[in-house]
Amino acid sequence: MSLRLEAFAKVNRSLLVLGRRSDGFHELRTLFETIDLSDVLTFEEAPELSLACSDGDLSVGEDNLVLGAAHALLAASGTSRGASIHLEKRIPWGAGLGGGSADAAATLLGLRALWRLDLSDGALHELASALGSDVPFFLVGGRALGEGRGERLTALPDPDEPEWIVLLSPPFGLPTPAVFARLGLTPGQATTNLPGSDSEPFPDRNDLEQAAESLRGELRILRSALSSAGATSARLSGSGSSVFGVFASRESALQGAARLGAVPEGTRIRVVPTIARRDFQARAFPRR
Ligand code: C5P
Repeated sequence: MSLRLEAFAKVNRSLLVLGRRSDGFHELRTLFETIDLSDVLTFEEAPELSLACSDGDLSVGEDNLVLGAAHALLAASGTSRGASIHLEKRIPWGAGLGGGSADAAATLLGLRALWRLDLSDGALHELASALGSDVPFFLVGGRALGEGRGERLTALPDPDEPEWIVLLSPPFGLPTPAVFARLGLTPGQATTNLPGSDSEPFPDRNDLEQAAESLRGELRILRSALSSAGATSARLSGSGSSVFGVFASRESALQGAARLGAVPEGTRIRVVPTIARRDFQARAFPRR
């Protein structure tokens, strides 16, 4: 038996940092949204566990979250199984788009099905949360609120029509811990960044932007290029390095992308719609 799954990227439409916890993580309130940019994973039965990747620069060792997810499943189910996994990498990594987390979630779903493991969705969520703060979101998809480290999720209704995203990925990544560290919060320290009022639960802001832009000034240039090109919101995604602009239609997004002017050399420009939960789950989940 073999299985093929798409692992979609996300953007953070809003990201508030509420403080630093005593465990060192930051307390967040974020609005996630899946976008139509995906990696493709195939899982085949095999005697041993192995991972191959289309991108030779990406590690296929134990530090790859795909293998981390496979080992977590084996440990939780108390079995010893093998699989040959292939990862076609299309989501830029170190880019704040959750690519590694999406791959890990796809692996949990894919191998649970391939190995016919008797593990509940709740158990899978627990494993996802231990693998990384963003991983549980990719078991839900669409538009969702993330709280805590980002792993406590509430699914939200999707917009009636997809939004259109102009996604700018510069030719460098940003390490998430370095960006959070730049905030300079001590464990237990709250910020003055209060969540929005009820009328605006998701303010148009990302509290990691300044930190990321102080590490790479090019990111500020990319964001203002998107604003000048007509984006209704121009934000950093997660801890970067990707920056995105929101547009109401495909046409306006294409026009905006054409109007961007000079962007730092090597920046990849993509125009993609957001993906509603129903479509996400149809393409990202194994058929039952
Ligand atoms: O959970 P994950 O492994 O993706 O987090 C990577 C790093 O990002 C953490 O080690 C921490 O430095 C930072 N982080 C954080 N607060 C969060 C999420 C991530 O400080 N809510």
